[in-house]
Amino acid sequence: MYKQIHFISLCLLIISQSLFAGEGMWLPIFLKSLNEKEMKAMGMKISADDIYNINKGSLKDAIVQFGGGCTSEIISNEGLLLTNHHCGFGYVQSLTTVEQNYIRDGFWARSKSEEQVCSGLTATLIVRMEDVSAIILNGVNPKMTELQRRNKVDENIEKLKLVLPKLDDQEVLIRSFYNGNQYFAFVTETFKDIRLVGTPPESIGKFGADTDNWVWPRHTGDFSLFRIYADKSNRPAAYSKDNIPYKPKHFLPISLSGIKEGDFTMVFGFPGRTTEYLIYEANKQQIEVLNPVRISLRDKTLKILDKYMRADEKTKIQYASKYAGIANSWKKWIGENLGMKVSKGLDKKLKADLEFQKRVNQNPKFEAYRKLIPDMEFLYKRLEPFAKAREYYAETFVRNVDVYDYYQLVKSLINTYEGRGEAKFNLSKQDILKNIDAYFKDFNTSIDQEIFASLLEQFITEMNPAFVFNSLKEALKTNHSDYKAFAKSLYTSSKLTNQDSLYRIMSMDYVQWIAAIKADPLYQFYEDMNFYQNNDINKLCFDLEEQINALRRTHMTALMEVLPEKRYYPDANSTLRVTYGKVEGFKPRDGVHYLSKTTLDGVMEKYIPGDYEFDVPKKLQSLYNNKDYGIYGEDGKMPLAFIGSNHTTGGNSGSPAIDAHGNLIGLNFDRVWEGTMSDINYDPSICRNIMVDARYILFIIDKFAGAKWLIDEMKLVYPKGKKK
Ligand code: ARG
Ligand code: GLU
Repeated sequence: MYKQIHFISLCLLIISQSLFAGEGMWLPIFLKSLNEKEMKAMGMKISADDIYNINKGSLKDAIVQFGGGCTSEIISNEGLLLTNHHCGFGYVQSLTTVEQNYIRDGFWARSKSEEQVCSGLTATLIVRMEDVSAIILNGVNPKMTELQRRNKVDENIEKLKLVLPKLDDQEVLIRSFYNGNQYFAFVTETFKDIRLVGTPPESIGKFGADTDNWVWPRHTGDFSLFRIYADKSNRPAAYSKDNIPYKPKHFLPISLSGIKEGDFTMVFGFPGRTTEYLIYEANKQQIEVLNPVRISLRDKTLKILDKYMRADEKTKIQYASKYAGIANSWKKWIGENLGMKVSKGLDKKLKADLEFQKRVNQNPKFEAYRKLIPDMEFLYKRLEPFAKAREYYAETFVRNVDVYDYYQLVKSLINTYEGRGEAKFNLSKQDILKNIDAYFKDFNTSIDQEIFASLLEQFITEMNPAFVFNSLKEALKTNHSDYKAFAKSLYTSSKLTNQDSLYRIMSMDYVQWIAAIKADPLYQFYEDMNFYQNNDINKLCFDLEEQINALRRTHMTALMEVLPEKRYYPDANSTLRVTYGKVEGFKPRDGVHYLSKTTLDGVMEKYIPGDYEFDVPKKLQSLYNNKDYGIYGEDGKMPLAFIGSNHTTGGNSGSPAIDAHGNLIGLNFDRVWEGTMSDINYDPSICRNIMVDARYILFIIDKFAGAKWLIDEMKLVYPKGKKK
């Protein structure tokens, strides 16, 4: 139908023509051809080769994907890893008890022997990447159905994985770019023995908590330290006490020179997901239909959690991580909607579609693209009710309640039995028995039940009845639409939500076990829910989205051909990217100008004694009162955070901010409220990323925590004239 074009040459042509505006998440292997000139013009002193090189140590060898979701970087020759406090938080929480409260008090190993094993935590390095589009798209042709195409691509991926050169303990990942127009292979190395080295108390690492989250000006020391351990040959290995600190090919030196407005900055990491090239209709759906569903249901969950967390310290510890996770996206969606409104983002998207259509209509060469936007619009409109129902289902029954995890637990055991036999089933069951305490450590049945009842009420009230599954309708009839009564009966009659009864069930042999599970009301409820959701909602969404994605793939190439004056970088997909900009303040609205830097003074301005978000540790107060900043201060102040025009997203948390010379100057951890819509609509005038100043991190480690031994293993770069 639509013709295929030569993709790479199109990208190259386009980028060389445009001017820098902060936007873009670029592939390290193309920096030399696409970005180096511009980066140098902006002040960069190193070369693209220093950033990405497979033949010698380069910056990329210090950039590590942390725990699958965040970024981290190596800052010493002994595998010392720096990432955000909020990235390591789940692991710190697992090590925390009421008696030994690392969340509240922080934790600092005094030597390597005190570093704490974090079970399940991984650190992944990129060995190399290469364009494999020609191999993956070999045999694909425009006449294929989407299913045929997908099968062909999958087949090519599997074949390539078998032959791509790599060491035995390395993995190959193949990812699609530009909506399936291009494919890259990544050879990776994943380390599995990662230990906690140090973390500040949450009154530093999470200072300002959810009130300040996504907001500038910011005063959060959002960092933690870990260490990668390897076997005796410096290779990835499971935990062993004989493992030794990993020796990296490169680690980031840390600059003490400070930063000023206009300085070149670069952020190197693993941005998760952006969708910058969606048409107006798709953006409108997200902003006007989907975000409001997510936001309003999470409003409810968060209010309930907050009530219990404020009342009880144990509950606060149990739910700290979960609350932060739910609140984080909730607040981002609110900001995204606001930003789109303020920046007239939807109007902009509409204008862009109209401009595209106009040029297509004017030029016979683009004949094949004429119906592209109308076709997509039609499909998005058909998708809308199903997509909306999908959000209602996910937010009500899956994302905000823990009880779903218990269902998943037994469901995966059933799958193990059916797919891999009784012996494997028994092994997995044994595993669950061993971990049963851990499953219940952060679970409070009555809180979960209250959330369930509250969300269910909103679900039933707002949802089109055609999308409510039958057994739920009947159950509610039996309970006279008393949501609380229904939730109570479900939770109290189930054997899955109670530690003792789950223990008893998990001790049974398969025949007894499966009978008990099948009779369990919670299991039955979620079986029905899942069946309905999969067959009547998700499958339809999937079919429509598959058609949409095929058109988006064409639309991507069409955009490049039809509007070649714009620059097109691939949307984020959790692969390694470089983004660059400047240290830069901004004007969010009339009469307001945000400066680009904050200092410790702001912590004391925000200080509220005893408050769970704005308390300040005594030790930090006294360092402040004595202006005891050592070599880390600047003009009598302690620099704390700064913003810049680097295009980042979720997953860039923990990414290093790097200066013109390749030294670490900060740690990325957030974006500004006005600019959270940058995932769908980057606007250079108000989109900024937020970084902790590296000097504040060093100050906390050295002066606050007294962990000078860690500073000693780092490489500090002193400004000219200032010496040790
Ligand atoms: N907004 C940042 C990010 O997207 C920080 C989140 C963690 N902080 C929090 N208060 N929940 O991940
Ligand atoms: N805090 C985000 C993360 O966890 C990064 C901020 C953003 O979304 O830009 O990745």
